Order: sequence, then C-alpha cells, then structure tokens
Amino acid sequence: MFDIRLDRLSKASLSQQIQDGITAAIRDGRLGPDARLPSWRDLASQLGVARGTVRAAYGRLADDMLISTAGSAGTRVVGRPVRSAKQDPSSDTPPLPEFFFRSYTARVKTFQMGVPAQDEFPVTPWSRIITNAAKASALTPARYPDPRGEYDLRKEIAAYIAIARGVSCMPSQIIITNGYVSALGLAARVLQLEGKHAWIEDPGYPLTRIALGLVGVKAVPVGVDGEGLNVQFGLAVAADAALAIVTPGQQAPLGMTLSLRRRQDLLAWAAKNNRWIIEDDYLGELQLNGRAAPALAAIDESGRVIHIGTFSKTISPMIRLGFMIVPPSLSAAFSEGAASIAPAPSPVVQMAISEFVREGHYLRHLRRMKRLYSARRDLLLRHITSSGLDRLAGANAAGTTVILNLPVGMRDRVVAEAAQKYDLYPGALSPWYASEPSSRPALLLNFTNYDGRTDAPCIALAKVLNEHAA
Ligand SMILES: Cc1ncc(COP(=O)(O)O)c(C=O)c1O
Repeated sequence: MFDIRLDRLSKASLSQQIQDGITAAIRDGRLGPDARLPSWRDLASQLGVARGTVRAAYGRLADDMLISTAGSAGTRVVGRPVRSAKQDPSSDTPPLPEFFFRSYTARVKTFQMGVPAQDEFPVTPWSRIITNAAKASALTPARYPDPRGEYDLRKEIAAYIAIARGVSCMPSQIIITNGYVSALGLAARVLQLEGKHAWIEDPGYPLTRIALGLVGVKAVPVGVDGEGLNVQFGLAVAADAALAIVTPGQQAPLGMTLSLRRRQDLLAWAAKNNRWIIEDDYLGELQLNGRAAPALAAIDESGRVIHIGTFSKTISPMIRLGFMIVPPSLSAAFSEGAASIAPAPSPVVQMAISEFVREGHYLRHLRRMKRLYSARRDLLLRHITSSGLDRLAGANAAGTTVILNLPVGMRDRVVAEAAQKYDLYPGALSPWYASEPSSRPALLLNFTNYDGRTDAPCIALAKVLNEHAA
C-alpha cells in the first residue's frame, strides 16, 4: 500500500522520514480518502523502530490534517478528495455546450469563430513590454492592487475611448475586467437584477443568455432586423425589462449597426423609465467598412449606458482583459462590486497593455488588422464564388465573419459538424438563437485567419453542402 524506506544514515530523523513517506502516499493517491493506516505499534514493529518514533510521525500528520485518529475505527486518511497523479485530465472536462466549448481545447482551424489572426500577433513589442512589466512587478513591494484596475491603464483607456469611440469619461468610471463576460457578471450583480427581465438580441451571443440565467435574470429575446434590435418589439413583449443588452456597433452575429433612430428610441426608453443598457462593444473599432460608428455610450446624456469593451478581438483572447465604463452615478457601486466580488486581473498584464497603448502599438496594430481583415474577407468572398459555393448558399460579410445562408431545411449544426472532416471549423448560426425553431440555417465563417492560397476550403465546404442537400 505504501512503502517507507528508512535511511538510517540520513540527516532527517526516522520519525520525519515516516511522516514524509505517508504524506507522499496520500498526496499521490496511493493512500486514498478513508484508507486505514496500521496502528503505530504495528508499523513500529514492521519498520523496526521505537513506537514513540511512529507515534510522533502520526501526531504531526494529524496536525497537518492528513490523518485522523478515531478510537476503534483506527487511524485513517481524512475523507477529502485527493487528486491522484494518475488521474486523466480529460476526465475533468465539464459538461458544457459542445458547439462552443470544444474550441477551447482544439487547435485553431480554418473558419473558427472568435479568434483574431494567429499569424499577426505583435510578438516582438508585446514580448518586450510584458517582460518589462513582469520585472517591474517583481521589484514592486507586495500590496493589494486597486480592484478597479491600475490607474495608468484606466487613464490610457479614457484617452483612447474618447477618440476611438466618442465616449468621454473619467478614469474613476472605468473598471478593468477579465473581458466581457466577467464585466457582464459584475454588472448583473451590482445592478441587483435578480428576478427581473432583460432584453437580449435574438440572435445574440450565447454566453450572454447563459450568464443572465446563472444570476437569476430572465432573458427576453428581442428580434433584430436591418436596423438592429427591434425596440418596439421589446416594448411589446417586456416593457417592464430592467435592462437591455445590445451590440450596437456591429450586431453579433449578423453585423448590422444599430440605426440612429433605434439608438434614440432605446436611450429614450431607458432614460424615461430608469432602465439600464449594456453596450457590448466586442469589436470596438474593428469596423472594416469605413469609420466605426460611435459607441451608444457616446450619445447617452442620461447616464443609462454601461459600455463594455474587450481586448479579445483587437489583441488576443489569451490576454483575457476588458473594461467597462459606467455612468458616474454607478461608479461607487461598481468600485465596491469590483473590490468585493470581481477584482481586476493581474496588474502585470494591465501595465503591459497600458504601455502597449501608450507607445502607440495598439493603434498601429488595429490599423494593420483592419487592412488585413478586409483583404482576407475579400479573398474569402472571391473563393466562395470561384468554388461555386455561392450557387449553393448566399453569402454576406458581417463583422469578422462571412455568413453563408443555407437552404431552408438544411441543419446548420449538422453541416458544421460534417465540415470538420475536412479540418474546417465553421460556426452554426442556430445556437445563437434563443430558440432553435425560430432560427434560420447558416454557417458563420470567420475570416481573420483566412489566408487561403487556393479556394480548397470553399471547395470542401461546397462538397459538404452538396452531400447534405442530397
Ligand atoms: C458578441 C460578443 N461579445 C463578447 C465576446 C467576448 O468577449 P470576451 O472575450 O471579452 O469575454 C464575444 C466573443 O466572441 C462576442 O462574440
């Protein structure tokens, strides 16, 4: 069961060696929870040591809360789960929705959603900046960092967002987060919306729906049309909603911009009835056609919009960093929320991003990405035509994807799954709908990594579509 080798020449005492041997056996799982240990008398005679030597080792193991002595029940390993070294990490996969979560572990494949260009990450400046930030942090005396985020970064974001998205704010209104979803979680709790209704776009980002459910907010799907979220529909189905969550810049995933008329309607509804609006600005300035429309928060005069930005699309989701800009009336409540339930991530990454923005790399990188993504989008659209895919499905660009509208009746999840045999990983549109029967079938082809020298991926996709049309 466990094998204790005593070394009588060792500097460590015999009692210490017994303690170490048993501790190792517990930690690596050879001695599982509730396993019974020999009595100290038995072990002493087995090892040829004095009883007091084993008793002292058992005493220290009990002090470490690794074993407990319970009279006639004997001495046992405490009954808490101990991770076995032999445990297979793949058995630890949580039962999360397949369509989404498989992408967390697999290597990035052609058309995979949500990821920026893999070949254009600014490796050189970023490596230098993050290394310097890590060194500076190691030399700084330990303290609790500001839970709202590092002041320098909040100041940089305030300056950047005024120019890029037209939002004027003070650093005290900015909270640094682990990206959009953690900002959403913080907002849902600070606003105390449990049991209330919230409008969500239909189709819309699936994690928004899941997150609201987890904090007890009832999501009400509101359709989108050519002008974005249909505010009148929202009013008709849930005028009492306390919150609306929108992607005004480029609707996710259909790509339209929320029209000025709809922006005004939405802001008027929120101002008149004291409702909140969360603006998910996930693509930020990454608007490929012309200049990005200003943020909704830029024209919010009543302080009802919480603007959420992220560096996931503009730099990398590996950085796991985002920010929220809250109206002045909420900054104290959100600061308290950040301090108590969702403090900002590691200052090292924050300081590095701050430097990356300050040195001008961020704006340069964004400019390059816009050019690169426009070229990749055009290439993909050309290949959709040259491969004949356009005769099987209509295509239009939206954000950083091309939407391939499948014939009615074709099941997009099935087609997306089938495409994997060609090492392609398109998204299916239907999971973005609150209810699949109301969805239309389409594939979402992310083009940020589309550098096809030939139209082979599109030919393969055409083959898959033909197989499923049959
Ligand atoms: C609409 C939308 N919002 C937010 C996000 C994610 O943001 P983050 O990585 O900051 O959580 C995504 C990611 O794909 C998205 O599509």
